[in-house]
Amino acid sequence: MKHSDNIFVAGHRGMVGSAIVRQLQNQGYKNIITRTRQELDLLDQKEVEKFFKNHQIDYLFIASAKVGGIEANRSKPAEFIYENLQIQNNLIHQAYLNKVKRLLFLGSSCIYPKFSPQPIKEEYLLTGELEPTNYAYAIAKIAGLKMCQAYREQYGCDFVAVMPTNLYGINDNFDLTTSHVLPALMRKFHEAKINNAQSVEVWGSGKPRREFLYVDDLANACLFVMNNHNIKELVNIGSGVDIAIFDLAHLLKKIIGFNGEIKFNQSMPDGTMQKLLDVSKLRNFGWKAETDLETGISRVYEWYVKNKINN
Ligand SMILES: NC(=O)c1ccc[n+]([C@@H]2O[C@H](COP(=O)([O-])OP(=O)(O)OC[C@H]3O[C@@H](n4cnc5c(N)ncnc54)[C@H](OP(=O)(O)O)[C@@H]3O)[C@@H](O)[C@H]2O)c1
Repeated sequence: MKHSDNIFVAGHRGMVGSAIVRQLQNQGYKNIITRTRQELDLLDQKEVEKFFKNHQIDYLFIASAKVGGIEANRSKPAEFIYENLQIQNNLIHQAYLNKVKRLLFLGSSCIYPKFSPQPIKEEYLLTGELEPTNYAYAIAKIAGLKMCQAYREQYGCDFVAVMPTNLYGINDNFDLTTSHVLPALMRKFHEAKINNAQSVEVWGSGKPRREFLYVDDLANACLFVMNNHNIKELVNIGSGVDIAIFDLAHLLKKIIGFNGEIKFNQSMPDGTMQKLLDVSKLRNFGWKAETDLETGISRVYEWYVKNKINN
């Protein structure tokens, strides 16, 4: 990408899209194009077509998607499959018709089989059953990355897909009914500290292990991939290290400064015992995550308090 190229970041108000915009600005890119959902509904094929006709887009990051937690995925599978397919079909097809130089599609690690060996390599895709609670979302994401592959094969389009691990960062979702584990725990510990609560309840045994990546590291990786034309297929993006929920809860407690007790509610399900991406492919191209978990969480917590999210 040249600093003068026109770069469209779809989904720029989301956690990932906003981090990509920050990273582009920090690296000196001048012509970053963004549209809110009100200005351009990506579900609307005609509007997307018109937008691409009226703007010369050189590079496209697809960070727009319908995203949600377990409950939203379980109760609204039709919305998850329809909206995600529609958004990505509209963008990928218009990128092809309008000769976008390179496109980066954001997937998610839930595309991999539920019982993948650990750490999860890119080649495990489509080798087993998906996690049933978010199959609709995962199928849409698999279709997106296969669409990038198909357009590369048939039309020679320089389209690439990345699969990030669990992310956390500023602009995350802190709503306790729909959020992921890390922001949910951050909010619980923060509120417990303010309310002088005796204890915080954490679901499950604390034994499952999860990998987390700071979203600004992810954005840095996305620019690295966009600028490395040798990366042609699906590539995992992660920190390469996982942590037990037990240790994560204690780290959050320390950073937030909560002095009470942590109670693990063992009657709640644990989910998969380990989820860790194999990140050797991207490492071999020369990219590695920079931000350790303690630094990343401390930055997000500072932002959370300043912005008084949900307080
Ligand atoms: N968060 C994670 O842990 C994680 C992990 C791995 C992969 N990812 C991937 O990263 C991508 C972005 O995730 P995120 O966490 O940044 O999600 P997010 O915060 O929910 O952001 C999604 C963005 O897409 C926009 N959008 C949705 N439907 C739209 C439509 N019809 N028209 C226009 N814009 C629309 C939203 O706009 P509004 O602001 O108007 O709603 C929002 O800005 C997704 O593909 C996700 O699979 C995320």
